[in-house]
Amino acid sequence: MILTKARELNGVIRVPGDKSISHRAVMFGAIAEGITTISGFLPGEDCLSTISCFQKLGVAIERDGEHVKVHGKGLSGLQEPKEVLDVGNSGTTIRLMLGILANTSFHCTVIGDDSIGKRPMKRVTEPLRSMGARIDGRANGQYTPLSIRGGGIQGVAYTSPVASAQVKSAVLLAGLQAGGATSVTEPEKSRDHTERMLRAFGCDVKTDGLTVTIEGGQELQAAHVEVPGDISSAAFFLVAGAIMPNSKITLRKVGLNPTRTGILDVLKQMGASIAIENVQNEAFEPYGDITVETSSLKGVEIGGALIPRLIDEIPILALAATQAEGVTVIKDAAELKVKETNRIDTVVHELQKLGARAEATDDGMIIYGKARLQGVQVSSHGDHRIGMMLAVASCIAEGETNLQQAEAVAVSYPNFFEQLKELQQESPR
Ligand code: S3P
Repeated sequence: MILTKARELNGVIRVPGDKSISHRAVMFGAIAEGITTISGFLPGEDCLSTISCFQKLGVAIERDGEHVKVHGKGLSGLQEPKEVLDVGNSGTTIRLMLGILANTSFHCTVIGDDSIGKRPMKRVTEPLRSMGARIDGRANGQYTPLSIRGGGIQGVAYTSPVASAQVKSAVLLAGLQAGGATSVTEPEKSRDHTERMLRAFGCDVKTDGLTVTIEGGQELQAAHVEVPGDISSAAFFLVAGAIMPNSKITLRKVGLNPTRTGILDVLKQMGASIAIENVQNEAFEPYGDITVETSSLKGVEIGGALIPRLIDEIPILALAATQAEGVTVIKDAAELKVKETNRIDTVVHELQKLGARAEATDDGMIIYGKARLQGVQVSSHGDHRIGMMLAVASCIAEGETNLQQAEAVAVSYPNFFEQLKELQQESPR
């Protein structure tokens, strides 16, 4: 895809639904009693993989654009699939689904694409095995293909070595079906969409600092889920609006769950002009309108407990850092190495191609600011967030940027390029 430098970005858009919440709404609806209705569902490839896996597990799911109806089967109503369950590129689908399958009496084989084949699964297969689930797979269950036959699982008190909502959720979803109580303790707090949604489906979930506890044997009751816009998708336009001249962008109904808003804290700390209005729905998943305007940014240090709150936004934050005054240091982010790509390497490598000064470190990166970017051939490496970061970079890069594997953005943001174009065509403010 050939992308050219933009003059300015102006307008009001609604970013697609939150990916994490869309996955969970389908999965929890599938194992609930009754019919779950979802509005604002993200029709990205990852969430469509979740729908297709649960259809293969015998759940009737109808979708009309962003509206989804899930005919729940209850906790023990899933059926043995006739085919392998293919999660595509989706880490959330595979890890949460393994937790759900941990107590089923039947057999399943789970596969994904090349990227999924490289991502660590031991972080979920190990605790699930310790609960009694029978899981096998490549390299002793570290990688896909995996096969699982659940049943007779017992609650566990699990201390996770990583702050991962996928690990936490997999263990809690197994715990829901296990004998006794299950708790998960994390080193830092990861996103809490699972806890919030389980409560909305009528479950009792206790949170005490970094530990979440659930009693086994609780039935989920179907609910209506209104999915807010994805702050991880909004992030691309938040940075675009801040780094482009003469720009003002309003993003409507963006999710503002505090476990996800690290990007807002960091952009504000960098000096970005950001305003949040019309905050609603605080009891379940808060959302509001965010407006960003052209800003002069300065470098910052990002690490510690902030990292899980912005882990998916680091590629686009790195681009912001190339336009800031001074140096930006990102640390404590070794998890980036096991995302859809090794995002430390892909971010640094692609930014360097565009003329930025960036260095990879063991657990993050160092970016030197005020770089003049020059359009060249770059690649998403099949990673949606790298693709969108590079598309935003093309708006400020001189000349033409040739983005290879641009189609990867459909994993989380099918209409990204249309919205980017729309903002370029709006009349100046
Ligand atoms: C997700 C959790 C995060 C995030 C991913 C979605 C989720 O992964 O990077 O895009 O929906 O639970 P980890 O929990 O593995 O860090």
